[in-house]
Amino acid sequence: MNEPIEKIAVLTSGGDAPGMNAAIRAVVRACTYYSVECVGVYRGYQGLIEGDFETLNARHVSNIINKGGTILKSARSLEFKTEEGRAKAYKNLKEHGIGALVLIGGDGTFTGGLKFMEEYNFPLVGIPGTIDNDIYGTDNTIGYDTALNTVVEVIDKIRDTASSHNRLFFIEVMGRDAGFIALNSGIGAGAEEILIPEKNLGLDRLVDSLNKSRANGKTSSIVVVSEGDKIGKTVFELADYITENFPIYDIRVSVLGHMQRGGSPSCFDRVLASRLGVAAVEALLDRTTGVMIGITNNQISKVELDKAIKMNNDINEELLKVAEITSI
Ligand code: F6P
Repeated sequence: MNEPIEKIAVLTSGGDAPGMNAAIRAVVRACTYYSVECVGVYRGYQGLIEGDFETLNARHVSNIINKGGTILKSARSLEFKTEEGRAKAYKNLKEHGIGALVLIGGDGTFTGGLKFMEEYNFPLVGIPGTIDNDIYGTDNTIGYDTALNTVVEVIDKIRDTASSHNRLFFIEVMGRDAGFIALNSGIGAGAEEILIPEKNLGLDRLVDSLNKSRANGKTSSIVVVSEGDKIGKTVFELADYITENFPIYDIRVSVLGHMQRGGSPSCFDRVLASRLGVAAVEALLDRTTGVMIGITNNQISKVELDKAIKMNNDINEELLKVAEITSI
């Protein structure tokens, strides 16, 4: 028979995302609700290896639902990729009487967790926390909605100056391997063109589209470029290419960078994180392990961790069409 779970540990790992604190808060309070001790692990897997633990009660997580970042800090641990590192982590968990783990993060976090679970048969569940929204098995990841709102707010501001000076702006947004931020913020901010890693639209198509916009009477334009864009050029190279071949355009570049990862989470992300945090604790107490908790069609869903890691969310073709039609 399985031993009862008396202590659950929670950690955040990989790139931080607004709403991670709301998820930590929900995990801690769900543990309190179900009379289980909750232990916070600092700096992700590195803290697991170093035994950087603190018992958290419901009051420790007061006034954090509105805060960006993660109170538990985050790290990308190289040591956890080694057998020795994972052995130290297991020893620490056992010594502290921790019976299960909640992992808040993205692909890399789940890959490490899965390996650990396979090696030590240690119960764990994942919660998707990344601004990229590139995790299979949930409609939204924690932080994505906030990042979109941040990006749209900034592009609106850039549009003001672009329009005053009749300029063409190339704006780079995050999303190393996924174009969800670019596509959705691009539509939301009314971009003339959107370049994403999933589709190679090609330079000719970009030039064609810019020239058409100009012919249609547009005096300024916004091109949103995902950092992992398939054309394979950085925003600066793209800008240089257009400047050299089409000197008629007055071009500026903006790289939004890590500001997209910060800020107070949107209400959507707070609710999402709260639901996922509670469901994660409930799943562990029900003896579920090796899954990621998501929300699909507004219902709590569970997907095997290896599927969440290996499978991709497809770019919605309808959105591509909407982007094309509305940018005329
Ligand atoms: O995965 C989240 C993300 O913000 C990506 O969009 C981005 O490419 C990457 O993390 C940046 O990572 P770092 O903070 O290590 O520079």
